[in-house]
Order: sequence, then C-alpha cells, then structure tokens
Amino acid sequence: MADAPRVALVTGGAAGMGKATSLKLAADGHSVGIVDIDFDGARAVSDAIVAGGGKALAVRADIGERMQVEQAITQIREALGPITILVNNAAVENFSALEDLDDATWDRLMGINLRGAYVAAQCVLPDMSAAGWGRIINVSAFGAQIGAPNMALYTASKGGIISMTRSLAIELGPKGITVNSVSPGFIDTPMARRAINGGLFPVPYEQIIATYPIPRLGQPEDIAAACAFFASDAAGYITGQVLGVNGGAAM
Ligand SMILES: NC(=O)c1ccc[n+]([C@@H]2O[C@H](COP(=O)([O-])OP(=O)(O)OC[C@H]3O[C@@H](n4cnc5c(N)ncnc54)[C@H](O)[C@@H]3O)[C@@H](O)[C@H]2O)c1
Repeated sequence: MADAPRVALVTGGAAGMGKATSLKLAADGHSVGIVDIDFDGARAVSDAIVAGGGKALAVRADIGERMQVEQAITQIREALGPITILVNNAAVENFSALEDLDDATWDRLMGINLRGAYVAAQCVLPDMSAAGWGRIINVSAFGAQIGAPNMALYTASKGGIISMTRSLAIELGPKGITVNSVSPGFIDTPMARRAINGGLFPVPYEQIIATYPIPRLGQPEDIAAACAFFASDAAGYITGQVLGVNGGAAM
C-alpha cells in the first residue's frame, strides 16, 4: 500500500540530487516545496511536477540566511500544508589547501552546509511535532567518513551533519520523527562536474572511480532512492543512521 501523501521540503532542489529527490518524492505522491537560491531552476522542477499532475512550489531562498529560510517555509506551508518530510540537501563545495583557507570562507560555508540544515529542521519541527510523524534526511558526504585532500572545510561541515543527525535522532525519536543521513559518494551532478572540469582532483576522475567496487559515477537518482526510502513509512524504525550511497567507495 502506498504511503499517505505528505508535504516534503527539499533544499537545493533546483539541480543535481535535490532535483532528482524532488521528482522522486513527487512520483511517490508527495507535494514538494523546493527551496533554492536558483529560482529559475527550482521553478523548472516544480513546473515539471505540476505538469505530471503533482503539487509543488518553488521558492527562492539562501539557506544560509535564517530570515529567508523562515519566509520560504512559511510560504510553502501556506501553499501546500504542514511539512513533515525535510531533505536538507543544499550545500556548497570548497577545495582549499589549509594555508589558503580564511575565516570568512569558513563561516559562509558552515552557515549554508551546517547551520542551514539546523535552521530548516527547527522551522519545520512544529509541523512534525503536531503530526506526531516526521522525517528529516540530512545529506552528508563520503568525504566526511574517509577524508579528502583540500576539503577540510567541506568535510568538517559534513561531519557536523552526521553528528547532528545522531543527536537529533535521539532528541526527536519520542516525537515520532526519524532523522537519518544519506552520505553520497562521487555523484554525477553540476557540483561534481565543476570539480572535474576545474581539475580539482589529484588524478583524473576516471582513475578514482575505477578503484570503486562499483566502478562508475553515481547518479542523482541513486541518492533520490535512498532519500525516498528514509522518507517512507517503511523506514519508521530506522533513525540516527548514515546510509552510504557510494558504489562501495567507503565502507
Ligand atoms: N556531487 C557529489 O559528488 C557529492 C558528493 C558527496 C556529497 N554531496 C552533497 O550532496 C548534496 C547535493 O549535491 P549536488 O552534487 O547535487 O550539488 P549541486 O551543486 O549540483 O546542486 C546543489 C543545489 O543547491 C543549491 N544551493 C547552493 N547553495 C545554496 C544556498 N545557499 N541556498 C539555497 N540553495 C543553494 C544550488 O543552487 C543547486 O541547485 C550536497 O549536500 C552536497 O554537498 C555531493
């Protein structure tokens, strides 16, 4: 039996994994609020959902700015209803050697990747508490689990996501809210293509993926499937977990 239709919020839903997750949650029967700094991209995704008979709303917001997040969530709640599925997916990457890192860059990235996730969770908590049911899915990264050169800032933000996931799972479990993390490996998205095209890896990416047990780039749909599983009723007894979707690159 299909799950009851719910309202999902996907941050960074205009492109890459967020786009694939928005489309998958809509295909599963949920209404989807898409929050992204790229409004045109978000609207293209919401238009596709609506054209397919679903319900969606695109709202522009910078996830690193609390007031914008609060306003976006209020707008989505008013248009679609109380939000009981949250996918904290929006993030930015950074490749910097330690000597090149600076405080402003550190604070800005942490404000989006880590603080943004907590702010969004805090904003939807009243809806989930009132429903006695909620799903928070935080997208981390395999680099947080195995480390990556020149990525101390980015992987620190994602390590924070994993720790926050576990603590919130303990805190919110009694309210009927599960909190889990999907930890992507090397996934073919605009973010990955920026790194590949920018020559930011020490060796050609084909050499990297050749070492994986499943020797290919992951697809955004691989991540969407994992997010949709955590969002489902079937995952109701799973919380505080980190699911690596990485072709076996990190075990
Ligand atoms: N691509 C990979 O190989 C990879 C690997 C591990 C983890 N991840 C993580 O997966 C998630 C999705 O990554 P992706 O590869 O799809 O990224 P992407 O850059 O392709 O897409 C990210 C989306 O987030 C939006 N965004 C960026 N900053 C924002 C902000 N301040 N406010 C609102 N929206 C913002 C962008 O506009 C874009 O639509 C991220 O959390 C990323 O860190 C990616």
